[in-house]
Amino acid sequence: MEDKIKRNEFLKSLGLKGASLLAVYCGVSSLSSCQNEAVSPASGVDFTLDLTTPTYSKLNTTGNYIIANGIVVARVSSTSFAAVTQVCSHENKPNVIFSGGGFYCTQHGATFTTTGVGTNANGSKGIKAYQTTLTGTSLRIYS
Ligand code: FES
Repeated sequence: MEDKIKRNEFLKSLGLKGASLLAVYCGVSSLSSCQNEAVSPASGVDFTLDLTTPTYSKLNTTGNYIIANGIVVARVSSTSFAAVTQVCSHENKPNVIFSGGGFYCTQHGATFTTTGVGTNANGSKGIKAYQTTLTGTSLRIYS
């Protein structure tokens, strides 16, 4: 522990903090928390999923979701989809899933609407949501 504190002070003296600091820790140690390291939501997103492929055909059924490029894409109803970053706004853990008609973080239970609005205390910061457009069997997800 003392070693960790000293290292923290040393890294701070280099001007590292937040995610960079965590990245350094993960690079030099075997801390179990690093298996689930904090990451940032994707920006400049624009990709298309082919819903006829085995990987993405789950999205033809309401209530299902997949994760692609760090984004949770869900089939909300027969006519609508929703997409949010996998990275929770509570403590930046990439543990967001779709459950019960909304988005949910398995880390500490933050909940969000399909448009990314937080609906409990841990979800109060909301979560980054993306646009979705279905054209035939192609689902586009974009910022
Ligand atoms: S990191 Fe998601 S609820 Fe804490």
